[in-house]
Amino acid sequence: MTTNPSIFVESSTVISNKKFKGNQHILRLLAPKCATSAKPGQFVQIQCGSQHLLKRPLSLQLVSKSSGWIEILFRIVGSGTTHLATLKTNDTVEVMGPIGKEFQLQPQIRKYLLIGGGVGIPPMIFAAHNITKETNHLSPFVIMGSETPFPFNPKPSQFLLDGIPNDVIAAMPLLESWGVPSRLTSLTDMAGCHQGYVTDLARLWLTECSTATLKQIIILSCGPTPMLKAVASLAREFNVDCQVSLEEYMACAVGGCAGCVVPIKTTLGISMKRVCVDGPVFNANDVFFE
Ligand SMILES: Cc1cc2nc3c(=O)[nH]c(=O)nc-3n(C[C@H](O)[C@H](O)[C@H](O)COP(=O)(O)OP(=O)(O)OC[C@H]3O[C@@H](n4cnc5c(N)ncnc54)[C@H](O)[C@@H]3O)c2cc1C
Ligand code: FES
Repeated sequence: MTTNPSIFVESSTVISNKKFKGNQHILRLLAPKCATSAKPGQFVQIQCGSQHLLKRPLSLQLVSKSSGWIEILFRIVGSGTTHLATLKTNDTVEVMGPIGKEFQLQPQIRKYLLIGGGVGIPPMIFAAHNITKETNHLSPFVIMGSETPFPFNPKPSQFLLDGIPNDVIAAMPLLESWGVPSRLTSLTDMAGCHQGYVTDLARLWLTECSTATLKQIIILSCGPTPMLKAVASLAREFNVDCQVSLEEYMACAVGGCAGCVVPIKTTLGISMKRVCVDGPVFNANDVFFE
C-alpha cells in the first residue's frame, strides 16, 4: 500500500532491538521500500501495538539500501515506546515512511557542523553518513549532547580539532570508523566529554574558524527546542546558515489533520506550516522558538 509516491506502508520484521542505559533502544527493521528512498532528517511512523490507534513518529538514524533495513533510536517515555521496547527479533510491526522534508545538502563543497541533542542525535548520524559516503563534501564535525548515557561506548577520538580542548576527547566509535570527527557533551560528569552545552563546544570550534571558513559552514541540528533555539542564536552570532529539525505532536503525519502546525516566516509573511510534511527540517531563521 502506498499513501503517496514516496511514503510507503510496510509490514516490517524486527532484525534486532538492542537495549541501552537510560531506557534507550536501537531498533533495526526490515523495511526495504523505506530504506531505498529515505534521506537524513526524515522520519517514520511506527505502529505501537494494537491498543494505540496512532503510530508514533521516530527519526531515521541509519538505513541500508542494499540490505533493506532502517534503524531508529528511541527513548521510552510512554506506553507507545514501552511497547516498542518489548519487540523481539522476527516480530512484525507496521511502518510508514519515509516522511518529511530532509536536510538540504548544498551542492557546492561546504563544511557541515552537525549538532544533536538527546533523541535528536539519530538524524545527525544519518546526515554524517550520507555527507561522508555519498557526497564530495568535506568530512563533517559532529557534536552530540546527552544527559543520559550515550547509546554507545565512547572512545578517544583519533582527530585533534582546533578550538576543542585536548581533554575533550570522547567520540562516537561508529563516526570514527567513517573518518568523521565527533565530540560529546553532557552536564553530567562523563569521562572525556565537555561538561556543558553543545553550543558551548560549538562556539569554541567556530571561534577558531577563519572568516573564509565560516562562509563555507552550514549547521544542521536536531534536539530539544531550547537547544535548537540556542543553536539558531549561535548560527546568527557567527553568520552561518543553519537548518533545524523540529518536533511536534503528530496524529496523521501525512499532512491531513493540521495537528502539527507551527508559524514559519516566509517571503509572503508568517505562514502556518505542518511539521510532518512541510518539515520537520526548516531554516533556523524562519522558526519562532518562543
Ligand atoms: C519528527 C519527530 C521525530 C522524533 N524522533 C524521535 C527519535 O528519533 N527518538 C525518540 O526517542 N523520540 C523521537 N520523537 C519523539 C517520539 O515521537 C515520542 O517520544 C513518542 O511519540 C512518545 O510516544 P509514547 O506513546 O511512548 O508516549 P506518550 O504516552 O504519547 O507521551 C509520553 C510523554 O512524551 C511526551 N511526548 C510525546 N510525543 C512528543 C513529541 N512529539 N514531542 C515532545 N514530547 C512528546 C508527552 O507529552 C508525554 O509527556 C520524535 C518526534 C517527532 C515529532
Ligand atoms: S500530523 Fe497531521 S498534518 Fe501533521
